[in-house]
Amino acid sequence: MTFPTARPRRLRRTAALRRLVAQVDVAASDLVLPLFVKEGVAEPAPIVSMPGVVQHTRDSVRKAAAEAAAAGVGGVILFGIPAVKDGRGSAADDPKGIVQLALTDVVAEVGDALVVMADLCLDEYTDHGHCGLLTADGDVDNDATLERYASIALAQAAAGAQVVGPSGMMDGQVAAIRTALDGGGYTDVAIMAYSAKYASSFYGPFRDAAECAPQFGDRSSYQQDAARSAKEAVAEARLDIAEGADIVMVKPAIGYLDVVRAVADAVDVPVAAYNVSGEYAMVEAAAANGWLDRDRAIREMVTSIKRAGAGIVLTYWATELAQRFTR
Ligand code: PBG
Repeated sequence: MTFPTARPRRLRRTAALRRLVAQVDVAASDLVLPLFVKEGVAEPAPIVSMPGVVQHTRDSVRKAAAEAAAAGVGGVILFGIPAVKDGRGSAADDPKGIVQLALTDVVAEVGDALVVMADLCLDEYTDHGHCGLLTADGDVDNDATLERYASIALAQAAAGAQVVGPSGMMDGQVAAIRTALDGGGYTDVAIMAYSAKYASSFYGPFRDAAECAPQFGDRSSYQQDAARSAKEAVAEARLDIAEGADIVMVKPAIGYLDVVRAVADAVDVPVAAYNVSGEYAMVEAAAANGWLDRDRAIREMVTSIKRAGAGIVLTYWATELAQRFTR
């Protein structure tokens, strides 16, 4: 007996068929919008390398969070840019620091409608731009940095953060933060750990946005090496979960979809992926030149990240996607 030719195209024939058999769905509630808030600016300041993204004022960040909430976006994550930076990143855990003030504002405005998160790191706050305290030799001092992270976690929780996102890749950071939060009575504040974070060129535009490019050296002694296998990422995620991480994250997303898949298959907690600034800038720049179809590229990128296994996607397009393309 001869079989008819296989016809995979049968289910691709019409838009209705394609929609019926689609398996990956980008829901607005799975998206998290990163927001930059800068101290001492009177107007939102455009970020040249991230067209469409701004450094917000306290007022405009509240409005952007409200807009995201109205669109059904799942969460926002705040990054602060202080007016004054120093060696220990003093503004990071100052109760009057810009991110703490903005957190309180945003929680008051939309804290019931979406999840309010804070990036927990030092690089936006240090004058040297590294994610931790430095030794006399200029190395990043892991354990001394953990004490700063613990203090920042308490300041962010006191300001109303519902989730803190440690992004500095110090060993033991999740345990230090969980211990501090529990000790401060913030047992309900969750930790979304940047567990597998690679030393990536694709953070370039972010460093313009957060004004945090390292003043010397790079982050290769604490962030992961792209040439390592995804197994290292799985190990990092497992360590973070053992230390108390509630959500684990892979970052960047697009060059690391194998890592997203490996982590998603290995762990039982929710997995997030960060569609980073360089990924955003590539699409925006190419689209501005007419070199690709912006709308399709954005949707394809975020769909691919979800297909790889991320349940949560941090993306600068979150509000736009929610308004225009999701259910
Ligand atoms: C560190 C941090 C970075 C990003 C998020 N948190 C920068 C870095 O590690 O250099 C990058 C995000 C992006 O590129 O969109 N606090």
